[in-house]
Amino acid sequence: MNTRRNILLGLICLSFSSLVQTQAQAQQAPVIIKFSHVVAKDTPKGKAADQFARLVNERGAGKIKVEVYPNSQLYKDGEEMNAIQMGAVQMLAPSLAKFGPLGVKEFELFDLPFIFDDYAALHRVTNGPLGAELFKKLEPKGITGLAYWDNGFKDFSANKLTKTPADFKGLKMRIQSSKVLESEMRALGVIPQVMAFSEVYQALQTGVVDGTENPPSNFYTQKMHEVQKYMVQSHHGYLGYAVIVNKKFWDGLPPDLRQIVVTAMEESTRYANAIAQKENADSTDAVKASGKTQVVPLTPAERSELKKVLIKVHKEQEGRIGADLIKRVYKETGFDPNKL
Ligand code: LMR
Repeated sequence: MNTRRNILLGLICLSFSSLVQTQAQAQQAPVIIKFSHVVAKDTPKGKAADQFARLVNERGAGKIKVEVYPNSQLYKDGEEMNAIQMGAVQMLAPSLAKFGPLGVKEFELFDLPFIFDDYAALHRVTNGPLGAELFKKLEPKGITGLAYWDNGFKDFSANKLTKTPADFKGLKMRIQSSKVLESEMRALGVIPQVMAFSEVYQALQTGVVDGTENPPSNFYTQKMHEVQKYMVQSHHGYLGYAVIVNKKFWDGLPPDLRQIVVTAMEESTRYANAIAQKENADSTDAVKASGKTQVVPLTPAERSELKKVLIKVHKEQEGRIGADLIKRVYKETGFDPNKL
């Protein structure tokens, strides 16, 4: 009788101690933030993501850890939004042109050609009430917006020189998954092809598409200068990012760890936005130095001609983005669509 009781007691003690052990292990295991993105490490976004990881990992005292997966290593465009919603990754920084497929098409206002004259105009939107309102639209999708990170202003590239609107006619060009960008390309008589960023180099190399548009930092770090003859400095539109996190994960983070992330994100955002302009200027210089792609500036008159054709996209896309929202952006930035 005693022996049976002792065995029973022993079993209870054993399962109790293994329960304590599992809990202790669970307490020790760091919270992991998988941060996936599609660009090279040596870009404004790549550098800011690494800086963010460094800060969290230094300050997290082993309780929280950020793992960065660059260059579409983990997920490519078209997969990563799904991955964050499923919780397979916790953090992403997709370009603002990639929120349409998620059902938040208002972000495509950032794709409207020529809408921002410079970074200062853009920041009046991203750092103001409009930027915050846009982030609220992500919440029902299970996503929380944390910050806006800059990249830069896009240039057109192709194997043909595209200085005037007529030069574009009939070309096939890769775009991101944005209806506004589709309409921009159609306004130029281009056949747009939505394609994941990771596939662009090969598509240019094999002639699946004739050209594309990108800020110089993406163009250079993806080696597009090896497979494109011309890069025209059109600066006709903006490309930047929203840093987003899985809402359930975010809401469940213990307050002390969340504070570490918030502070690191603020610092990395300042860093990202401080380096973006120079990174793009340096990449333009690197493209020139490569001697492979000819970098062609536009005169003010040539740029106006392009603007005259592309500005129509604003009206055309009112139904998608909202006429009111577009007007509010104009008001915030002082942009006048009638001034060419
Ligand atoms: C693109 O697909 O061209 C860009 O969004 C890539 C990026 O993240 O900068």
